[in-house]
Amino acid sequence: MGKTPVKTTKKRTTKKVDNIDFNSLLSKSIITDEKPETTFVAKGQYKEALELLEDAEACQLTPMLIGPPGTGKTMLARSFSYSRGRDFEWLTLDESTKPVHLTGAFDPSETLKKGFVKEAFLAGPLTRVMVTGGIFLANELNRATEYTQNSFLEPLEERSLVLQKLGRIRAHPDFFMICAANPGDMAGTHRISEALKDRIKIWIKLDYPSRSVEMEIIKNNLPQTRLSSEYLDLTHKLIDATRKGREIERPASIRSAIAIAKLAGRKMENDKDLTYGQFKKIAKRVLSGGIKPRPGVDAEVSISKIINQVVR
Ligand SMILES: Nc1ncnc2c1ncn2[C@@H]1O[C@H](COP(=O)(O)OP(=O)(O)O)[C@@H](O)[C@H]1O
Ligand SMILES: [Mg+2]
Repeated sequence: MGKTPVKTTKKRTTKKVDNIDFNSLLSKSIITDEKPETTFVAKGQYKEALELLEDAEACQLTPMLIGPPGTGKTMLARSFSYSRGRDFEWLTLDESTKPVHLTGAFDPSETLKKGFVKEAFLAGPLTRVMVTGGIFLANELNRATEYTQNSFLEPLEERSLVLQKLGRIRAHPDFFMICAANPGDMAGTHRISEALKDRIKIWIKLDYPSRSVEMEIIKNNLPQTRLSSEYLDLTHKLIDATRKGREIERPASIRSAIAIAKLAGRKMENDKDLTYGQFKKIAKRVLSGGIKPRPGVDAEVSISKIINQVVR
């Protein structure tokens, strides 16, 4: 039996590189502008959220974006900052994040040469935006321990920050912090400390977007791939069904929808056709890691049930 040839839509021209090439590629790949890779769809809940971020910034109140994974919290904060033409730094927090990851630390070799001076200090992302008047996104804030969460109290309350050995810095008047978190009842998250909660003043809830907005987001993410409107519609129906299913704890996110649409579009382009059977297989592969069933529910069985209900 002969081997089936592997088909590709695009030929990759990338070659192996030696070390000298690597360094020049590294220089080229450094991001100098924070433009998001895909166009932000500022409609529906996202339009409202952008307006609330503007209000929060104008009144110097700290906002919190709260919503399940993949509902666009990070992208919203990035797009907001980009539209303001501001410095933007972000850190995704978790259990192992320490205050020093936010504030920065002395470079050991420079400190040996020069001592504890500004020149030997490597500022962390929070310190950098406090000094330059940029925007800081504390991403997944409720994954950090209370100890680390508390290092935001002084910057938010007093607009200042202590840097050990250097002294206390005052924040630039334009410094603005946005927080983002997944809802607290999800596994793997700490509570937001009461002290910090008291300093967050605008709670912006994001949920899975409406059908029309989500369809536009999916299309924006398929610039090179064409997928027929029938399969685009089925992709959305599938994703939506996981959000309504009682057996599912964490349903499919926009990311899963984008992945299904990309794979289906590629198959359609390569084969000039896409059968329901092939589409189901693609959906199954993406969803088997893209959803979390409730305890005691068999993921495979649950996914197959949903797929067979939607794609007949
Ligand atoms: N309003 C939007 N416009 C365009 N793309 C979006 C939008 N919201 C979400 N997305 C897409 O969904 C993906 C997940 O969004 P992300 O901001 O990472 O979610 P979260 O931070 O809530 O987990 C993004 O990479 C982007 O492709
Ligand atoms: Mg995120």
